[in-house]
Amino acid sequence: MKRRRIRHYEITIVFLLFLVFCFIFQINFSFISRSNDILPGKEELKLKAAFKQNPLSLQSPSPSPSFSESPQPTEINCDRSHKSYDLCTINGPTVLDPTIATFYTLGHQDHVPPSYKVEKMKPYPRKWESSTMKRIREITLTSGPPGPSCQVQHNVPALVFSAGGYTGNFFHDFNDGIIPLFITVHSIFTDDQEFVLVISKARDWWVNKYADLLQSFSKHPIVNLDNDSSTHCFTSATIGLISHGLMAIDPKLLPNSQTFFHFRAFLDRAYGRHHGENHPIKSNSSKQRPRLLLISRNGDVGRVILNQIQVKKLAKKIGFDVTIFEPTTETSLWKAYTLINSTHAMVGVHGAALTHSLFLRPGSVFMQVVPLGNEWVAKYCFGNSGRTMGLEYMQYKIGVEESTLVDKYDRNSLLLKDPVAFQGKNWSNDIMNIYLKEQNIKFDLVRFRQYLKNAYRKAKRFMSKKG
Ligand SMILES: *[C@@H]1O[C@H](CO)[C@@H](O)[C@H](O)[C@H]1NC(C)=O
Ligand SMILES: *[C@@H]1O[C@H](CO)[C@@H](O)[C@H](O)[C@H]1NC(C)=O
Ligand SMILES: *[C@@H]1O[C@H](CO)[C@@H](O)[C@H](O)[C@H]1NC(C)=O
Ligand SMILES: *[C@@H]1O[C@H](CO)[C@@H](O)[C@H](O)[C@H]1NC(C)=O
Repeated sequence: MKRRRIRHYEITIVFLLFLVFCFIFQINFSFISRSNDILPGKEELKLKAAFKQNPLSLQSPSPSPSFSESPQPTEINCDRSHKSYDLCTINGPTVLDPTIATFYTLGHQDHVPPSYKVEKMKPYPRKWESSTMKRIREITLTSGPPGPSCQVQHNVPALVFSAGGYTGNFFHDFNDGIIPLFITVHSIFTDDQEFVLVISKARDWWVNKYADLLQSFSKHPIVNLDNDSSTHCFTSATIGLISHGLMAIDPKLLPNSQTFFHFRAFLDRAYGRHHGENHPIKSNSSKQRPRLLLISRNGDVGRVILNQIQVKKLAKKIGFDVTIFEPTTETSLWKAYTLINSTHAMVGVHGAALTHSLFLRPGSVFMQVVPLGNEWVAKYCFGNSGRTMGLEYMQYKIGVEESTLVDKYDRNSLLLKDPVAFQGKNWSNDIMNIYLKEQNIKFDLVRFRQYLKNAYRKAKRFMSKKG
């Protein structure tokens, strides 16, 4: 009985989490229905074992592969055991017809007509969310009838995924895209193994925004699944992305125990390509003062810091060199990375922009400001991930008087006195709207000062160690 309540509670929490990121970008989500089993499974180990047994036989690309000599039958396998994603493989030569998003096995078959094996799947790791998955193009894998002939021959495997769904929201770009891509690449390929990215919904702005990262994953040009009309041959194919859950990389599920430290090293290499270009950090920035990045939200989005100017003044007085950072979709990631990579502390209110905490150097200070009723969402994003990334994670939970909700609601109401209980009793989109969109923040500067001073001490210590 109690267990079940807890489970129910968890489901609600994770569901709320999902909502938060929709609210952030004001996606219309009236379509959402409550769903179960959102928490990701822990069955990736099984998958890893499967890959070990079946090493895809593609280590030796030959200039003109002769498929009929392939010693083992080419098989199609789909692992659908995970809560958040499906993953399918073709372990031998295959031809892709992009016009119908279909991969055909080539050469020696394990199925002969009329018993063709056909699998259909959607390569996006939010399987539980049927509304999102409706917008993801379905991929077919089939062992027959025989596919078309090759127009473009790649002597490397394909890795196929969709950049659709929520892509465009900075949090989702990483949570549903770049991080799962990193995990998948490290689960399937060896370090120096080449592969081609085959991407659905690879819109120009997205490819440009993430070009440094995509090119670091693979130097081969991207195959655009949606408008390419040539057939492409690969030595094998993996379709789908592995996710380890919300903002998570679980080293226990990766062959070489990669962590967020490896992920960050990957980012650093990717953005290190720009060495020699004009450094975005102003040359007159102080050598003595630790740099603080204050993440700003603006407009009618909720969770805006109303006394930001005073907060900036306060932080300066305490000793920080303060920069206000207000990322937009146009913000160059290389610039953002370089700026954050040289920062000693970041402070921001819970929201998608805090995904930039991924760019902080381990050991630097990351303070998440938690508005009323945002306790759970802040824990999952970005509290847990911040700690896992090795940041000096701090949390500033605002008091009732620091929330603009006191101007609207009775300060003795459950809504203000115990938001968690209130949400538990009366859960709805409207209620979450109150906490996420109606609420702005006015810091109690006396109280916040103590936190900032603490952050300053930590940042200064970090600066003296790491520069
Ligand atoms: C396919 O679409 C992408 C993205 O919109 C575009 O950059 C590319 O030029 C298109 N390719 C062809 C062959 O139309
Ligand atoms: C990030 O900072 C470190 C020093 O802390 C530096 O070695 C590295 O080159 C920086 N990365 C980029 C991409 O600028
Ligand atoms: C650098 O100097 C200019 C002009 O004095 C000033 O406006 C700017 O804020 C300074 N930049 C930093 C990061 O301190
Ligand atoms: C639940 O919330 C709705 C508004 O979203 C409100 O009308 C209703 O009175 C609330 N019920 C309780 C028990 O608080």
